[in-house]
Amino acid sequence: MFRYFLKRFDNRRPGLLGDIIQKFYVSEKFVLEYQRLRPELDWSRKTWEEFLDSLSSLDRLHISFAMSTVLRGRYSFSLLNGHSCIRAKKRYLDIGTAYAGFLRAYKEQGFEEAIGIELQERLAILGRANIDGLDNTQVIVGDFIQDDYSHLGAFDVVTCNDVIEHVDDAIIAIQKMSGMVADGGTLCMEVPNRDHINFVASDGHFQIFGITQLDRDDAALHYEAALKADRKNYFFQMGEMYELDWYIEQLARNGLNAFIADTHMIGGVEDVPELIAGLQRAYAEWRQNLKPHLDPSLAARLTEAVESYIQRLEQDFSGIKDELSRKRFEDKYLRSFWTILAIKGGSHLKSGSGYSRQDEVIAIEKLEADIRQKDAQIAFLNEQIAQMRNSFFWKFSRPLRFLGRFARSPRRAYYELLGAWKTRMRRNG
Ligand SMILES: C[S@@+](CC[C@H](N)C(=O)[O-])C[C@H]1O[C@@H](n2cnc3c(N)ncnc32)[C@H](O)[C@@H]1O
Repeated sequence: MFRYFLKRFDNRRPGLLGDIIQKFYVSEKFVLEYQRLRPELDWSRKTWEEFLDSLSSLDRLHISFAMSTVLRGRYSFSLLNGHSCIRAKKRYLDIGTAYAGFLRAYKEQGFEEAIGIELQERLAILGRANIDGLDNTQVIVGDFIQDDYSHLGAFDVVTCNDVIEHVDDAIIAIQKMSGMVADGGTLCMEVPNRDHINFVASDGHFQIFGITQLDRDDAALHYEAALKADRKNYFFQMGEMYELDWYIEQLARNGLNAFIADTHMIGGVEDVPELIAGLQRAYAEWRQNLKPHLDPSLAARLTEAVESYIQRLEQDFSGIKDELSRKRFEDKYLRSFWTILAIKGGSHLKSGSGYSRQDEVIAIEKLEADIRQKDAQIAFLNEQIAQMRNSFFWKFSRPLRFLGRFARSPRRAYYELLGAWKTRMRRNG
């Protein structure tokens, strides 16, 4: 115990470094490596909060994402565990691992082996710094789409967190990942929702209006105009973004049964008018500030995409009539990220294949009907018991029942009698 506190005390670092380690559970090597990569930032601040204040809003987003890597990994583990999606803790694979916090978190939870694959060397260096000292844990530098990883074998859990929208070919990525999931194992894919109302107003990667509604080529052109950056960067960083049903369909084609874990809801249906108002404000701002500087044909395509999005959104909103349509609406427009859990072989929710939100709702309704039936049975039995207690026979046989209990356990019968007597005294004041 004493040694534990001594170790904790020893591990404490003063200032910002210590604050980050304590808040985010990343390794010291990781933070130092990050500092080395971003020397232009003001690392002299004393606390994480002060440091955040010194950053631009885009840096704040990216650096919080990097530092929270272990916490997000822990959350991922507990989500899968909570859905009984971890059948064994032998082998874990993380595609596009970057900062490798997921490897750290899954190792902490007892996985025997953890492997991460990362495209960018400089991020792999960061990731390796974060898993320093962990046994059977490694970050491989490589392109998951181009390179062959079949020699790695099958894994109990494969995660692909905020990666699928970055790869060049999402169909191949899903095919290859599905092939690496062991029978009964789980693939967990977190994907930003291109149709979340807030993300249409300002996307999560670059904070640009409307970009999630464009295909990859147009998105790159819009990125170039909005950030005055080279569109090649966009192609390097981003792939295509699809609708929810597309991902579910791809997973089903590869033999995985997918469902949406209930996470990342921003607002409820009651907040939709306010969210739409925010979107309209961002649209007006874009029309005024950016549209005049865009190539007219790109501006027209973006206008059309956004108008048709708003029309669909309003139609679907007014079409909410029952639990199923409400859940469909929430999944489509109010979840900022879809966390898709997909099980290989068998069925987690006893659905056929593909998107199982409907099966989920049917299962909940069946459960509620069962509960209502059980409640009715319990109420009926309670009534019968009450009637019996009031009957002459029940009252008459009371001393006999007490004698029976006394014969079985005199001590317990005595305390019961004492309890009943005390209750009566209390009731009588
Ligand atoms: C937004 S980051 C997510 C990092 C990490 N999964 C997390 O949640 O913290 C996306 C990562 O995917 C990596 N990536 C993109 N395409 C890849 C590919 N073909 N093979 C391996 N990694 C890839 C990128 O280099 C980047 O580090």
